[in-house]
Amino acid sequence: MKIPVLLTAFALVVHGAPPEKVIGGPYVVNVGPRSATVMWVVQTGEVSLGAAPDKLDKKSPTLRAERVVFNGLTAGTTYYYDSFDGAAGKGSFKTPPTGAAKFEFVVFGDTRTRHDVHRKVIQGVLQASNPDFVMHTGDLVADGYDNSLWPIFFDAERELLRKVAFYPALGNHDRNSKNYFDFMSAVPYYSFDWGTSHFIVINTDIGNVGRTESEKQAFWMDQTRWLEADLLASQKAEHRFLFGHHPPMTAVKSRQGDNPQVMALELMLQKYKLTAGFFGHDHNYQHYLKNGIHYFVTGGGGAPLYDVDSPPAGTTQKVESTENFVVVRIDGKAVHIEAKRPDGSLIETVTLPAPAPAK
Ligand SMILES: [Fe+2]
Repeated sequence: MKIPVLLTAFALVVHGAPPEKVIGGPYVVNVGPRSATVMWVVQTGEVSLGAAPDKLDKKSPTLRAERVVFNGLTAGTTYYYDSFDGAAGKGSFKTPPTGAAKFEFVVFGDTRTRHDVHRKVIQGVLQASNPDFVMHTGDLVADGYDNSLWPIFFDAERELLRKVAFYPALGNHDRNSKNYFDFMSAVPYYSFDWGTSHFIVINTDIGNVGRTESEKQAFWMDQTRWLEADLLASQKAEHRFLFGHHPPMTAVKSRQGDNPQVMALELMLQKYKLTAGFFGHDHNYQHYLKNGIHYFVTGGGGAPLYDVDSPPAGTTQKVESTENFVVVRIDGKAVHIEAKRPDGSLIETVTLPAPAPAK
């Protein structure tokens, strides 16, 4: 009785399965001084949907993430890899150095919806910088559950992702989705060291972390406890940088006061001497200096722009309704930040610590 069943299944595989193709990557995540995860995403098929059998006009791919974890790596080393077949499967990345070192990273976010703009931002990054790694402030795609959007994201990012380590943060549009965690081999919050700087990534998207208010609050309490312990443990670092999606302050009038949980972290960030925080969610460029901490909003990676119609008094350094990315160069105590538009033109430069005034 079993033989016909097996033959039927075999026939389905031969006639039904389209050829698999790589639609994302290669890229490298979870990079530490000793380990890294090389990834790529494969389209295994496609599902069509419509209101009539002969009008299946909505299509979405089935996707599978592939990954290989490498351990026993050496800190501060450039590694080259060859993953899936052909030149497209080749790439490189650096492992973090463990001592004092010069390095450079790029920050951008909200790479959703206007895919042509997303491509221009990535082109701008590639022309302006040769970063050691990339930080994404969240909202990688417009809906993390929508399989059709991830191939577009990975296609726009391809030439950047194959030469850097990638560290993402969760945005509300990523929707705490299985796709995000699967494609990024991600956890909701994490930290790492690069040279003598410490990098912390939190999940500010409290709205999607649980079904009930108590689940959401429990997540936030756990994360906040972890954040304080992590800040305390990193006091010997030369710099501490925080990354998340929802900003604690904004010049977008209609959104002011929207993120009370993030605003409530400010005192802790001050106590543990954060150097700078980078956020997204608002689709523009914003820079504030508040109680010794520089706060940046870099959410200009492709999502439709928002006005900067109500800059907070006293703390605003620069706001502009423009697509953007931020290049950060670290050399010992010195932090040099350039905020740029996709065409490479400068929005502003920021040097930390601030140069002493001329006598
Ligand atoms: Fe957002």
